[in-house]
Amino acid sequence: MTASAASPDALREEALAALSEATDEPALERWRAGWLGRQDGRVTLLLRAVREQPPEQRAAFGQAANAVKQTLEAALAERQESLKQAALKALSTTAALDVTLPGRPQAIGRLHPVTQTLRDCIKAFQEMGFRVAEGPEVEWSAYNFDAMRSPEDHPARDMWDTIWVDTLLNGERKMLLRTHTSPNQARVMERTPEPPVRVIVPGKCYRQEATDATHEWMLTQIEGLAVDEGVRMSDLKGVLYEFARKMFGQDRKVIFHHSYFPFVEPGVEMAMDCFICRGSGAECRTCHGTGWIEILGAGMVHPEIIENAGYDSSKVTGFAFGLGVERVALLRWGIEDIRHFYANDLRFLGQF
Ligand code: PHE
Repeated sequence: MTASAASPDALREEALAALSEATDEPALERWRAGWLGRQDGRVTLLLRAVREQPPEQRAAFGQAANAVKQTLEAALAERQESLKQAALKALSTTAALDVTLPGRPQAIGRLHPVTQTLRDCIKAFQEMGFRVAEGPEVEWSAYNFDAMRSPEDHPARDMWDTIWVDTLLNGERKMLLRTHTSPNQARVMERTPEPPVRVIVPGKCYRQEATDATHEWMLTQIEGLAVDEGVRMSDLKGVLYEFARKMFGQDRKVIFHHSYFPFVEPGVEMAMDCFICRGSGAECRTCHGTGWIEILGAGMVHPEIIENAGYDSSKVTGFAFGLGVERVALLRWGIEDIRHFYANDLRFLGQF
């Protein structure tokens, strides 16, 4: 008797019985080829045998054969799925692999601590009504120095040992990496036809500096400038006190010292109490035994600079400040050395 002579029902029962004995992927494949294979699978042969049936039985036989094919296809899919589930379950109970363990965490990057601090400082000033502007890092010495009242022979130029860009114009070196953000005082007023001006200018500055725990050759500053009728020193102090409170909370102490910058009169420095030694250590590397860490220079904008902008210095006055963002970050997290920030050690950076 050939396979094609078997009855559809008998064939189906035989096939299902064989399927229940297939327990792995290769056995399932052999079963599939043997029963459903296109060339000579037994169900395929059964379907071909429809033609050989006596005419009056052909339709019924054909239907039965097709039903067997569908049943077996469905049974195969089900068997494949249940074998897969069983294999997963078996895997999860062997010690080699625990599929219930949580996945490996993705390493997610985050902002550099100085960037985080910069953004928080900007936000604090924005809340007080300052707008944000930007200026070039490669600057003309005319803006960096001359516009800020430090001509060629002025001793104040020594305060910012300069990294010059080696471009000679008419035999003179005129471009540099800006040593401070203050040139933007002139730049901002120049493009603001009339006061009021209330702006901050954040950005990188560069100095040829012997580095130590509080000095780096690249630093981030925020320049602040407010010019209007009736702006006074008390406004400057109010803004800076409020900034310190926003960034450090109520109990952090600040102190103002008199200081000199050629573009302000009078000039001050603002410092905060040293978080390392609390003012007690003569040996303290961070505050050098003074108990205070300077975070900004400030003062009332020199009338000459107001006049140079085309404003009437008998009517309007202004204050300016230049804040060291790395210094703020040091104080905020109690970091003892500013050089950690740009040493690119992930063990350090990953803590913030
Ligand atoms: N530009 C000065 C510095 O870099 C800081 C400063 C800014 C001082 C504005 C007074 C007013 O040290």
